[in-house]
Amino acid sequence: MCGIVGYIGHRDAYPVIIKGLERLEYRGYDSAGIALYDGNTVNLCKTKGKVEDLKKKSKLEISLNGNLGIGHTRWATHGVPNDINSHPHYSNSGDLVIIHNGIIENYESIKKELIKRGYTFESDTDTEVLVNLIEEVKSKENVMLGQAVQIALNEVVGAYAIAVFDKNKPDEIVVAKLGSPLAIGIGENEFFIASDASPFIEFTNNAVYLEDEEMAIVRLGKEIKLRKIKNDAVAYPNILELQMNIEEIEKGGFDHFMLKEIYEQPRAILDTYRGRLLAEQGIVKMAGIDQHLDKFLNANRIIIVACGTSWHAGLVAEYIFENLTRIPVEVEYASEFRYRNPVINKDDVVIAISQSGETADTLAAIKLAKENGAFVFGVCNVVGSSIARETHAGAYTHAGPEIGVASTKAFTTQITVLTLLALNLAKEKELFTDVQFREYLTELETIPAKVEKALESNSLIEIISDVYKDSTNCLYLGRGYNFPVALEGALKLKEISYIHAEGYPAAEMKHGPIALIDEQMPVFVIATNKGHYEKVVSNIQEIKSRKGKIIAIVTEGDEQVKELADHCIEIPETFESLTPLLTTIPLQLLSYHIAVMRNCNVDQPRNLAKSVTVE
Ligand code: F6R
Repeated sequence: MCGIVGYIGHRDAYPVIIKGLERLEYRGYDSAGIALYDGNTVNLCKTKGKVEDLKKKSKLEISLNGNLGIGHTRWATHGVPNDINSHPHYSNSGDLVIIHNGIIENYESIKKELIKRGYTFESDTDTEVLVNLIEEVKSKENVMLGQAVQIALNEVVGAYAIAVFDKNKPDEIVVAKLGSPLAIGIGENEFFIASDASPFIEFTNNAVYLEDEEMAIVRLGKEIKLRKIKNDAVAYPNILELQMNIEEIEKGGFDHFMLKEIYEQPRAILDTYRGRLLAEQGIVKMAGIDQHLDKFLNANRIIIVACGTSWHAGLVAEYIFENLTRIPVEVEYASEFRYRNPVINKDDVVIAISQSGETADTLAAIKLAKENGAFVFGVCNVVGSSIARETHAGAYTHAGPEIGVASTKAFTTQITVLTLLALNLAKEKELFTDVQFREYLTELETIPAKVEKALESNSLIEIISDVYKDSTNCLYLGRGYNFPVALEGALKLKEISYIHAEGYPAAEMKHGPIALIDEQMPVFVIATNKGHYEKVVSNIQEIKSRKGKIIAIVTEGDEQVKELADHCIEIPETFESLTPLLTTIPLQLLSYHIAVMRNCNVDQPRNLAKSVTVE
């Protein structure tokens, strides 16, 4: 869960690397470092803290010259975040310099062996062990850097995306990948290396994504060749032309990426169904599923695996799938599924949901499902990500890059894709009449405008946020399709404002949480007019009679809840199964404003990282 950047070419490497690290800071931000090479001297600077701290320190302490450079932004796994444990790391001779995203699991035994051979270590990291192992192989076997990297990597167990250079070879950087992402941007006699394409997209659209167990020697004046780490087979790379543009990854006038991404949802939802939802023709077209319809239609059950917000989208999908398609669905935390010896067989369809497409637990759950013969379908946002490649088939959400650590537009676009998928299957199973099907599609088409309308409550939400910003606990309640939205609302609040919050199915409140309710307890209740409205109204009355503060998300024109609640936020009317796409919007805005009012770092909350590529 770190970000890595590298550059070799005709430009000054420093600004390329620093800007790239800023874009990758979502992957980790407890320390940062850079190494620049001008052909004579390696200038290395690293620090605990953010890229901003690195910028200040490097400008004071090192020469910023060099057309070759590597940089790292860290989310600590081995060794506390401090200057010494930050990357890059030197080998003992000072010739090799490395950056690494991942974990070397057997580093302790390798370290013991290296110590016996006279190596010394400054840091507590597994990465310093790896660079010295490469050095040891290089001198013992008398081979070049690329070969040494390959031999060394065959000795390690774990995950890595590395970039390493040798002072004696100023025209090359060696990169390798297993489990953590690594992309190479190809320019005119220049190369970029990064955890994703955002650091180099303004320089080139041409990129190669390394597969697991692949490495490359990135050498000026040479074409990229990929080599399999295990068996030395050589492959010509698949050079992709990326569609991403630079505006998509800048803040575009918003104070934070999270707010920008909340406001992007009308466009993101539209982009996600564009070309797939053809309301006039009464069809849903999804290239990823067309050839695999039988798998879904004959499935025993659908198992959804995901983590965090994506898991919440999976829970919404459970309600949608079972209701529309009558196929049984189970939703599993990927981290539990992978370790609990689950019953999976070839008639199961597994849907893996992941914004980043890199979440380690979800990836492991996919591998387990495949080993047991299940058909695995991916719903990812990041094109070319590990999960997108590992699944048998899939459908992308077209949310665009999500940079804010708290997931927002990923959630609504995941629900959009899954709704399309369910509709497609329901149509195939003839569970809808043509008229009903068209009505559904037409309603789905109105959602972007309705999200836009929901966003208009922003000023009211700011006022409500001010009232509750100092709370220490909050409860979120919802029923049916909106129970997962209550979970998601609570997660958003706790992760960015550090207020303890819990989501509950509204009816479960009386089995425990009701004991918490007093005049200090804000309770956010989703009380739209569809589904179990009267039941939720009863739950609201129970809260009110215990003096809890009620903030309700209601349908436009509601009167009953307005009489009872302390505050009401309206959303437009829609089909019950589509309400999560609207009810989630005010909850995202509430947590955003509360976090800003509490001076929290909204885009980079403490202890978190955007993609969790470790267990
Ligand atoms: C919460 C959040 C996380 C992610 C989770 C899974 O706002 O962002 O809970 O949803 O880490 O990440 P992906 O979807 O990338 O697999």
